[in-house]
Amino acid sequence: MSDPTPPSAPAPSEGVLRTLRGRLHDEVGKVVVGQEEALDSLLVALAVGGHVLLEGVPGTAKTLLASTFSRALGLEFRRAQFTPDLLPSDLTGNLTLRDRELVFRPGPVFTNVLLADEINRTPPKTQAALLEAMQEGQVSIDGTAHPLPQPFLVIATQNPLEYEGTYPLPEAQLDRFLVKVLVGYPDEAQERAILGLGRRGLTPTATAEVQRVVDGTDVMAARAEVDSTAVTDEVAAYVTSLIRQTRSLPSVAVGASPRAAVHLLVAAKASARLWGRHFVIPDDVIRVAPVVLRHRLVLRPEAELDRLTADAAVANAVAAVAVPR
Ligand SMILES: Nc1ncnc2c1ncn2[C@@H]1O[C@H](COP(=O)(O)OP(=O)(O)O)[C@@H](O)[C@H]1O
Ligand SMILES: [Mg+2]
Repeated sequence: MSDPTPPSAPAPSEGVLRTLRGRLHDEVGKVVVGQEEALDSLLVALAVGGHVLLEGVPGTAKTLLASTFSRALGLEFRRAQFTPDLLPSDLTGNLTLRDRELVFRPGPVFTNVLLADEINRTPPKTQAALLEAMQEGQVSIDGTAHPLPQPFLVIATQNPLEYEGTYPLPEAQLDRFLVKVLVGYPDEAQERAILGLGRRGLTPTATAEVQRVVDGTDVMAARAEVDSTAVTDEVAAYVTSLIRQTRSLPSVAVGASPRAAVHLLVAAKASARLWGRHFVIPDDVIRVAPVVLRHRLVLRPEAELDRLTADAAVANAVAAVAVPR
């Protein structure tokens, strides 16, 4: 999704997702310099009901991007800091006594966009509570199911630097994230542009100017558009081969799951729409393969020692499978 030039010219009528992309980039771009790939991934996830994992060192605008994105969507946004002492009920909510009656007090997970900040600083029990809510679209307390609002998008962040006291998410849970985006440092021109932004104190002046440019109807229309994106048998077979290839790479201990295949194809459909096409081409699959697959491959210990990355493994899988033309 980082490819700056569309692989083919946009269709004459722009399409919902492509139009939303333009509006979001303009609006979020008032406050956030660069990070376009992350923004595209957020839009793709929103359009298919998936969730996003952002990985990057502190200070690279992960929080700023998530909050500005929700502002531009006019969606309710909440942030939960995943500290070591965060309890599952701090997230999901709990039963409290009010007028001698037990009532459910919803936790921060009851929102449209939840920023789960530094998700790997919280012990597994609380991580599992979040992942369960993501999976089920609801929270069950004492046998009563409380449905989460729609749309519901989790943007989780994690710091790639290994440090003491972190709890890496198990692969089974990572698989629930549609995409994992690596949020890197800005280039030099971007770094200067960040300093050039007008500020009141530490806050960019434009923060207050960010307008709502997308509404609930747009989101529903985007979802319908992705669903109606055409996939030929050849492209579906290509996705299957690619997924199966990840399971036979010498560097990989555990390859991508059937769920990963579903996520890959749906993300490719959304990506096709981002570029103004109503059908998926192999390039769409190749473009989204790194963000969709990198967190789902378990490398062999010797591959890790050789400093082989999951991205390199994904690239190897892509290189090994013939592209239908
Ligand atoms: N790409 C960027 N565009 C605009 N401001 C940025 C960018 N990267 C960093 N900043 C500045 O640094 C601050 C820290 O960003 P923040 O979102 O808190 O980072 P993170 O959540 O990744 O730790 C932002 O509020 C902003 O002032
Ligand atoms: Mg942050």
